[in-house]
Amino acid sequence: MPINFHDKRNRMTYTTRTADVSWLSLIEEHVGIAGKAIVDIGCGGGIYTKALASSGAAHVTGVDFSNEMLQGAARHCENLSNVTLQQGNAYNSGLPNHTFDIVLERALIHHLHDLHGCFQEAKRILKPNGVFIIQDRTPEDCLMPGDENHIRGYFFKKYPKWIDMERSRRHEAAEVQRSLVSNGFVILYTVQLWETRSIHQDLDALNRDLAQRTGRSILHELTDHELGELIMFINSKLKNSTAPIIEKDSWTLWIAVSK
Ligand SMILES: C[S@@+](CC[C@H](N)C(=O)[O-])C[C@H]1O[C@@H](n2cnc3c(N)ncnc32)[C@H](O)[C@@H]1O
Repeated sequence: MPINFHDKRNRMTYTTRTADVSWLSLIEEHVGIAGKAIVDIGCGGGIYTKALASSGAAHVTGVDFSNEMLQGAARHCENLSNVTLQQGNAYNSGLPNHTFDIVLERALIHHLHDLHGCFQEAKRILKPNGVFIIQDRTPEDCLMPGDENHIRGYFFKKYPKWIDMERSRRHEAAEVQRSLVSNGFVILYTVQLWETRSIHQDLDALNRDLAQRTGRSILHELTDHELGELIMFINSKLKNSTAPIIEKDSWTLWIAVSK
């Protein structure tokens, strides 16, 4: 079963990290944050809402279809006066026309089937020349081989049966590009980013994190027994690695302007 965003037990799932410095530098360098009116659609626990709001954005609106996620985000972003959170859908956000300088959709589109409808909505709420930032993992990002940094690569080495499922729920880069262009966006940059997701002090700390299935969709598909076997497999691969274990994910970012 994939993670249920509407289950209150998952309320804090996407609040436990801070945005990686490499992510903030990339956004700063390619787009600029200071003074911007930003929407973070599919904001989850508000990790990136908070990072943008704390880095000079005039205002950040976090939107999510899950009330539970929004409650987590509210706790995560409490004390930030330039953050508003509201319930809304990526296809129908409820936000006004042509109001925002930047729309961010991070780790959202692999949950959506209708890219066209989602991109149309982003176009509707962006100002002319506003910037649309989409960040997700393509099949190529996900299926990169495992190593001491790309721990998730080992998931598919151990369980190749999940490769087809992963491919089927991820959008190919070419599909994202086609949909952006057909919705009136001009793509400025397509960037690959190795983003640090966690620093584990040692192998035991990594094991505990994996056992809790923290935010990793594929782990929610495994039985408890399969998860135990996976942890043993990863331990056999990493037994000689040096601490701390710096876990990274490969992401693709499409940065496009609304014309
Ligand atoms: C994997 S989480 C990513 C959260 C956050 N953007 C991050 O990167 O940490 C995906 C989020 O998208 C939300 N979501 C999924 N489908 C959605 C939709 N159709 N409209 C709005 N939010 C949606 C989920 O509730 C969840 O909070």
